[in-house]
Amino acid sequence: MIPLSEINKRRTFAIISHPDAGKTTLTEKFLLFGGAIQTAGAVKSNKIKKSATSDFMEIERQRGISVATSVMSFEYDNTLINILDTPGHKDFAEDTYRTLTAVDSVILVIDCVKGVEAQTEKLMEVCRMRNTPVIVFINKLDMEGQDPFDLLDELEDKLSIKVRPLSWPINIGKQFKGVYKLYDSSINIFDPSITDVAKEVIHISDITDKLLDETVGEKDANQLREDVELIDGVYDKLSLPEYHNGEIAPVFFGSALYNFGIKELLEKFIEIAPTPRERESDQRHIKPTEDKFSGFVFKIHANLDPNHRDRIAFLRVCSGKFERNKFFHHVRNNKKIRFSAPVSFMASRKSIVDEAFAGDVVGLYDTGNFKIGDTLTEGEKFMFKGIPSFSPEIFKELVNVDPLKTKQLEKGIIQLAEEGVAQLFTRQPGNKKIIGTVGDLQFEVIQYRLQHEYGATCRFEAIPAHKVCWVTSSDPQQMIDFKRIKANNIYKDKEGNTVFLAESSWAIQSAQEAFPSIKFHFTSEFLLDGA
Ligand code: G4P
Repeated sequence: MIPLSEINKRRTFAIISHPDAGKTTLTEKFLLFGGAIQTAGAVKSNKIKKSATSDFMEIERQRGISVATSVMSFEYDNTLINILDTPGHKDFAEDTYRTLTAVDSVILVIDCVKGVEAQTEKLMEVCRMRNTPVIVFINKLDMEGQDPFDLLDELEDKLSIKVRPLSWPINIGKQFKGVYKLYDSSINIFDPSITDVAKEVIHISDITDKLLDETVGEKDANQLREDVELIDGVYDKLSLPEYHNGEIAPVFFGSALYNFGIKELLEKFIEIAPTPRERESDQRHIKPTEDKFSGFVFKIHANLDPNHRDRIAFLRVCSGKFERNKFFHHVRNNKKIRFSAPVSFMASRKSIVDEAFAGDVVGLYDTGNFKIGDTLTEGEKFMFKGIPSFSPEIFKELVNVDPLKTKQLEKGIIQLAEEGVAQLFTRQPGNKKIIGTVGDLQFEVIQYRLQHEYGATCRFEAIPAHKVCWVTSSDPQQMIDFKRIKANNIYKDKEGNTVFLAESSWAIQSAQEAFPSIKFHFTSEFLLDGA
């Protein structure tokens, strides 16, 4: 067995938010605490600026940086923290969803002025799919935000999760005085001139302590007493099993910009967040302490060096011990494979790693062996579950512009699809290719990369499409009929699964009525359930 101490000291998580809520700022503050960076602004450069939506040189430049920040590991208080970065830009949402399959929990950042936003809801949907534990950090308390009780109501309503505040703001915006920590009856006093760490922490014996009045004034002290009474009356106490099951989210308040409430958040996170969890495979549950190594690839980053077309596959270790130069089993290819130069991402620098345990992420140089979702083991044949494809939102037909480069185009688009840049659906006969994405930006990325990396030119044509559904049926004859009648809308995904490309939601509904034995799935996750 792997010693429990190796597992218990690791926390692997992602910080997620609607763009601009403060994810980058919070990440940076965490890294400063962990000594992983020395100056503010180091992570910022990773962001694809909003203005750069069609600037490929910028994207290409960022791609280099984002390898280094894909995983940010550091030690804090004898705990090994692995933060998995997720792209902020909504057009790369699919990348974020896949990264979420590799974490054990998340911190969700909410802007107190804007509350729950569109992308917040989507991200939470993905967390709910696998009961990922969530801590909510309500940010920007220095700004005139919404009433904290209203924010909690909104979280419960829109995100369908119970909440339990662990800290509570004393006023908000210009009048913001600090936060009261409900778990240890202490008050952190906010001072906007200090952006280091709030130094002034005042301990009160309980909420009735006169020291509270002296510290924040009688009016605010009384308001806080009322608020705390209401919180205790309305919200259930935090139950760790419920939090670990994704049923209740602890909530913290603070300001990432002013480094206020961040240290507490990090320390409480370390205390309560789950250690590397058991993972489901198509055969059995895999425990992190099992002797035998296993892991899966959740992200592939290509084109580190345009001259070599090399890629780096990010592998999440799920059990046992990953070792450099040891032969492992590539389950899908049924091949042995070993890695002489696997890398870890300590302090945002890449360095060769000799061993890694459950919860760790290692970067593996790859010459085309990996696809997203691939499992590595010590010989056992199982595949980890939970790297689904979601139906894209935008569909376009890929049209080859240069017939002499057909092969290059074919190879390029398949590789880009394997990397997860976009989804590829093909219809035969005719080899018609539809590219599905969640944002327009990907089409530009694909066009640019096909040209620069594969020497192929293409254009995209709009097609009427609303969604793809993966289809299965218990009635083989009905499936044959369905495929014949809907032949124009039947495609294969890159794994060869049959999908129905629906032109409207009505088309799905009418197909469902006409073919009752056919199931229409909106993610490919069912495939691993053997449906
Ligand atoms: P993101 O990664 O979620 O997209 O957000 P990011 O951290 O980049 O923050 C978005 C903007 O919000 C930034 O301002 C950042 O400085 C600001 N911000 C983050 N936390 C706080 C906070 O606690 N209080 C206040 N008042 N602002 C905060 P920007 O002007 O877009 O960028 P920059 O020019 O400051 O870098």
